[in-house]
Amino acid sequence: MNAQGREPLAVFGAGWVGLVTAACFAELGHEVTVRDVVPEKVERLQNGEVPFFEPGLGELLERNRDRLTFTLDAADAAEAAELVFVCVDTPPTYSGDADLSRVWTVIDELPQLDRRSILVMKSTVPVGTGEKVRAALEARGLSHIGYVSNPEFLAEGTAIENFMNPDRVVVGAFLESDADRVTALYEPLGTTIVRADVASSEMIKLAANAFLTTKISFINEIANVCELVGADVVKVAQGVGLDHRMGPHFLRAGAGWGGSCFGKDVSALKQLAGNSGYQFQLLAAVIEVNELQKRRIVQKLQKHLGRLRGKRVALLGLAFKPNTDDMRDAPSLVLASRLLAEGANVRAYDPEARPGELLQGVALCDSTLEAVTGADAAVIVTEWNEFQTVATPEIRDAMRRPLIVDGRNLLDPEATRAVGFDYEGIGRAASPLSALPETPERELAD
Ligand code: UDX
Repeated sequence: MNAQGREPLAVFGAGWVGLVTAACFAELGHEVTVRDVVPEKVERLQNGEVPFFEPGLGELLERNRDRLTFTLDAADAAEAAELVFVCVDTPPTYSGDADLSRVWTVIDELPQLDRRSILVMKSTVPVGTGEKVRAALEARGLSHIGYVSNPEFLAEGTAIENFMNPDRVVVGAFLESDADRVTALYEPLGTTIVRADVASSEMIKLAANAFLTTKISFINEIANVCELVGADVVKVAQGVGLDHRMGPHFLRAGAGWGGSCFGKDVSALKQLAGNSGYQFQLLAAVIEVNELQKRRIVQKLQKHLGRLRGKRVALLGLAFKPNTDDMRDAPSLVLASRLLAEGANVRAYDPEARPGELLQGVALCDSTLEAVTGADAAVIVTEWNEFQTVATPEIRDAMRRPLIVDGRNLLDPEATRAVGFDYEGIGRAASPLSALPETPERELAD
């Protein structure tokens, strides 16, 4: 540690979590060495390029260039650091468990460090991983290396803000002295530090994501019932969320949750429970509700258009949420493939996401206008700001049929209808799935 209380740090894994962590710790004054295994990525970072879109990250990396080093060399990175942050991904295996192979690779690659460095786990891992890592370190003759679980709660698009102004920081350690050192890093942020044992810290992360997805699946089910009974889920969520015991967040009904974390973490917790002899039935329902929710958009289109074969459908938004180009587990992927399977002609526009091979068979467009031209329906899949103003006479006139299915309840239904669109939201009073007969006879003449 230097005179200002700054520690040299290493970050293993230059993905979303790793780069944001590295950039923010550099901003707080630490020297950070970032290590990744992909040569092109390291080279791009060395040249000042950011490999993905995250608001503010490029500027932060640039501003702290002098304190950041990017390398392929694990030993160099670890040797230079007092604390080694593990930020590698832990994707799901076929069984739904978390794949820890990249975590084990980091342990294997650690050099024979002679001082008490600390391995800080930011990757999301099953409960019990800390114990296993400790055993693995012992087996490698590295029992003097400390271990701290320090889960991340960064949401894409607001990751830097989330890091710098967190609701809390969780520090789970085997030894108080290790927890003290990690806690000290976060002290400048002036936030609540939750100190815990390692297993509880690991569980906090899994439980947090499980709870957030439960909230969303819950409000999506309320929305579906709202459609049947003539209520408006936006009002319902407002009225429920103002109760401080529930809170207003994660009560936006829509076309389902996605992203790189939710699906895998919820499935990992469900499997972890199952592997330990407990059937986590609530999570099974949370996942199932979400799968059905993505597909409900197809039914809404069929309600208006009848059979979708040959119909042109424009998807507005592909990223799993706005302000990111990330399409991992995006609802748009399921929706697009269901529409293609129904024989629809699918076009799509997203301001940032570039799906490449992911969306075979979908025509990618450069603007909303291009996507909706000649379309029988436009579906708002991601609530990008620019889609707020989509309900214009120009867009209406460009479409073959002026139908908007608003998968994120982004638009005002009345204002949209006033421009001459048919409007379908999610769980909005006037959008019952049963309002129009679901018969192929409703098909329009092409
Ligand atoms: C999430 C967690 O928020 C974060 O703490 C964790 O570390 C990683 O996973 P992220 O995946 O970036 O972050 O996205 P988030 O903003 O949480 O949204 C996830 C998904 O839920 C998106 O598809 C979003 O559209 C959907 N969502 C969110 C809803 O459908 N309704 C809501 O009310 C909120």
